[in-house]
Amino acid sequence: MNLEKYLAEKTEAVNKGLSALLAREDDYPQGLHKAMRYSLFAGGKRLRPTLVLASAEAVGADSREALNVACAFECIHTYSLIHDDLPAIDNDDMRRGRPTCHKVFGEAAAILAGDALLTAAFEMAAATGSADKGSVIKAIGELAKAAGSTGMIGGQVVDIESEGKDVPFPVLEYIHIHKTGELILSAVRCGAIIGKASGDELESLTRYGRAAGLAFQIADDILDVEGSSEEMGKATGGDEKKGKATYPSVIGMEESKKRAAELVGMAVEALSGFDEKAEPLRAIARYIVSRRK
Ligand code: IPE
Ligand code: IPE
Ligand code: MG
Ligand code: MG
Ligand code: MG
Repeated sequence: MNLEKYLAEKTEAVNKGLSALLAREDDYPQGLHKAMRYSLFAGGKRLRPTLVLASAEAVGADSREALNVACAFECIHTYSLIHDDLPAIDNDDMRRGRPTCHKVFGEAAAILAGDALLTAAFEMAAATGSADKGSVIKAIGELAKAAGSTGMIGGQVVDIESEGKDVPFPVLEYIHIHKTGELILSAVRCGAIIGKASGDELESLTRYGRAAGLAFQIADDILDVEGSSEEMGKATGGDEKKGKATYPSVIGMEESKKRAAELVGMAVEALSGFDEKAEPLRAIARYIVSRRK
């Protein structure tokens, strides 16, 4: 399959959805809506919303039913990036090839733009049109949990607490599974839930999402060492300077690459019971570690 074309198609659908669902730039207060759209439309990979759509397709659904939920994932992800870059967290100046939200609009506006994107996600997901209502409620619940204190925010807190410390492997794993893995896992699961997956399908997709989610953050750590800041649109080398707990710093570069490759194998293997409709998910799993941005 042609993954590049698939990603481009889904990105276009998601961008159109986001633009239609989100308050316009000239809606009052304009400064807030400008800041939200500045970060949202700065050209992210749209991996999480694409996973929602690809997962719905893998279980035989029409992915258009999952578009609102897909957009909700991108809003939460973008909010997490805006806050992750704040001086109190990672203090980064570049994101998605542009100066970070707080650099352009100031810290207060960046915090509030993040807050507004987080809440916009639930508004969007709740406005899902044609899908089964029970499934929509279940997906919203999962999304909220994945983004919250026992999910992404839990991971972010331990990431910050671990700066400059020698952390044992289980803590490193906790950070990566939670700060990044949970939202990716949840994107896969929510697409399947909206697509009315069977119990067995959901179980297999959960194994896929868990492995792909952790692999994604290991690859992010590797790219912070070996990637190019131009291609990635953000600074590289920052993890070492900040004393971050990363896979390369804790288990070494070679082991990190081995682990990421193993996880991709596990993700693909989890889809062995699926037909060609899961081909995009298989290709995305491989892309997670082969990507350069
Ligand atoms: C960056 O995510 C933050 C992490 C969770 C590692 P992405 O690499 O998906 O960033 P965008 O959305 O493409 O900008
Ligand atoms: C970010 O992890 C995770 C979330 C935003 C939840 P990183 O701090 O490693 O992401 P980058 O490298 O800044 O994109
Ligand atoms: Mg961070
Ligand atoms: Mg960061
Ligand atoms: Mg990183």
